[in-house]
Amino acid sequence: MRKPVVLITGAGGEIGHGLIDRLAQDGSRGVITLDVNPLEPDLARLVTREFQGSILDTSLLDRIVAEYEVDLVFHLAALLSTRSEFTPMAAHEVNVGGTLNLLEFAQKQGESHGRPVVFLYPSSIAVYGMPDLQTKARAGEVKEDQYTHPSTMYGCNKLYCEQLGGYYTRHYKQLARDTVSRKVDFRSVRFPGLISAVTVPSGGTSDFAPEMIHAAARQEAYACFVRPDTRIPFMAMPDGVEALLRLAAAPRERLGRTAYNVGAFNPSAEEVRQVVLGAFPGATITYTVDEARQGIVDSWPADVDDSAARTDWGFAPNYDFERAFSEYLIPTIRRRYQK
Ligand code: SER
Repeated sequence: MRKPVVLITGAGGEIGHGLIDRLAQDGSRGVITLDVNPLEPDLARLVTREFQGSILDTSLLDRIVAEYEVDLVFHLAALLSTRSEFTPMAAHEVNVGGTLNLLEFAQKQGESHGRPVVFLYPSSIAVYGMPDLQTKARAGEVKEDQYTHPSTMYGCNKLYCEQLGGYYTRHYKQLARDTVSRKVDFRSVRFPGLISAVTVPSGGTSDFAPEMIHAAARQEAYACFVRPDTRIPFMAMPDGVEALLRLAAAPRERLGRTAYNVGAFNPSAEEVRQVVLGAFPGATITYTVDEARQGIVDSWPADVDDSAARTDWGFAPNYDFERAFSEYLIPTIRRRYQK
């Protein structure tokens, strides 16, 4: 008898940390994980089975199909936007090839147990490409179908994989002679920059905000790599995890879109700096602008319109800018570095 479980890829990453905690608290399903690196012992303890390996290893994915009944996938594994610009071929291979492997995996799983496989995919504000700062300022809250002309490899990968997911859900093998039973139920959120109190991101371009906070808490000087007036949307990690769980639980017929914007607050870099200085008065936070990374952040919208997510599946973040810092980030980060 195969056992019904949830699969999380990239489980050791930032989103995986919060997600595993939540799923373990809930306890209704076993969690199996796939990550190229071993999970930290605290996380490993919470999961049913940890596979260490790559999403590019299809024989490993076949083994998982044979052994487990997966009906929910959180496909989190990816190379983020800064990292991807240094190794675009590897980024494409992992971000697109890996996602295609997981979609095939989900289809096979569904065929083998007969139920749809709900497939959660974190997309990103990186799918947008604002042509210039004037347009960015004028556009304000961007809707899902506007300005989808990404300037990064990562953004291209995310946008294309949203489309691939929609294809598997609605049109997979549409010309097959025998009717194909489509088993993938793909759902995607376009995350803003996520800020976690328990992990520090690596390889992203929205990293300036979380890096600033964690550096201040560690009493390390930090040089922010974007201008003070730089503005993009952000979200506290617990709201990001909650968004994935809520979208996963939504009735399919309520979902009018493949990919949904979600947002929470959108401070400028200087507004983040001021709050961090307030919480850690001795902190040294300066600016050394990296023009290339600045260009990427400038191409992302200043804000997103997330009304579709609110209407279709009840998205409602708990943390605005003030609460994210006062009730989640600052106290949790303080505790973390005091240990
Ligand atoms: N946080 C991501 C990055 O900076 C955007 O999705 O790459």
